[in-house]
Amino acid sequence: MGKPEIKTVEWHGDSVWLIDQTLLPAQLAIVKCRTVAQVAHAIKSMQVRGAPAIGVTAAMGVALAAHLAASACAGHRSGNGEAAVHAAVDAACRELGVTRPTAVNLFWGLERMRSVAEELRGTGTEAVAAGLAAAAEQLAAEDEATCRAMGRHGAALITDGDGVLTHCNAGALAAVTYGTALGVVRAAHEAGRDIHVWVDETRPFLQGARLTAWELQQLGIDSTLITDNMAAHFMSQGRIQKIVVGADRIAANGDVANKIGTYALAVLAAHHGIPFYVGAPLSTVDWDVPDGAAIPIEQRDPDEVTHLRGAPLAPDGMAAAHPAFDVTPHTLISAIITEAGVLHPPLAASLAAVRPAAPAGDAT
Ligand code: MRU
Repeated sequence: MGKPEIKTVEWHGDSVWLIDQTLLPAQLAIVKCRTVAQVAHAIKSMQVRGAPAIGVTAAMGVALAAHLAASACAGHRSGNGEAAVHAAVDAACRELGVTRPTAVNLFWGLERMRSVAEELRGTGTEAVAAGLAAAAEQLAAEDEATCRAMGRHGAALITDGDGVLTHCNAGALAAVTYGTALGVVRAAHEAGRDIHVWVDETRPFLQGARLTAWELQQLGIDSTLITDNMAAHFMSQGRIQKIVVGADRIAANGDVANKIGTYALAVLAAHHGIPFYVGAPLSTVDWDVPDGAAIPIEQRDPDEVTHLRGAPLAPDGMAAAHPAFDVTPHTLISAIITEAGVLHPPLAASLAAVRPAAPAGDAT
């Protein structure tokens, strides 16, 4: 029997359970969030990270808020009980909405929960809480189906014998399970392609070294870890035939915000004539943002650059910058792999063609 699938985030009826990604690969431990504040802390501190995982976790945080408010007023049959649940949902959306600014899936997940809460208005305290819990679980199930569909579409782009470079972690740990960009790699491997994965370590948070390397080992996929500054060397040596990365936010014109260092890889790929693919669900597209210049870039604590797990890497007092993401212009992207298929340039038109219909009642 194979290893059980990784479940990055799970709803447990009265709590949200997460794999603590700050402890991997040394320790596989679960954090049990019993309050909205704990969920917000888990997102902000990157115990859970990766755009789709953040979106589903935030949705479960809203379900938790509704559950806690409904439990607090259990027994009340008046309209006030339901009002308290809606107030808790609004407060949770505010608290969770300021945890991380770049991955649009966070705001997408919160918006989905807000609209479900609206649809359930007037049905009573327990019905609202139960409906929101079901909606959060539904988002988690959709995420898995979406990742598997992306894998099926994207695997066709990977050829036997390919060296495939990936950056950051866009695997099961960045989603609910299976993964986006790494899901494509996994699907190619499952389809029997003989591939070798080159894993960028991804300074400064080391998602590649700590998380992607760990996932590839679990999956038994042939791989080599490199430091970020080795990528050009291996491209020039003909060892890398494809690059597949994830995305945190895609603008309507196809510009892609992803983990810092992605843009450099896209420039290198263009120089070496290597196809550069982005794997992302349509929930990562921000249709309101016309181009990458309008995507907010998270600035994280410079200590994450000057220190490694508390140990200093630089002289005391050294100034450091830490933009957590960069924007790759659409002109450098060969295709975007989505659950609706592989989208080729011109990306603005290909994206517009698969834009999901707005839910009824949504004027945007
Ligand atoms: O800061 P992180 O670790 O949340 O950044 C994650 C990434 O940049 C991923 O590539 C992106 O979210 C896609 S994950 C499927």
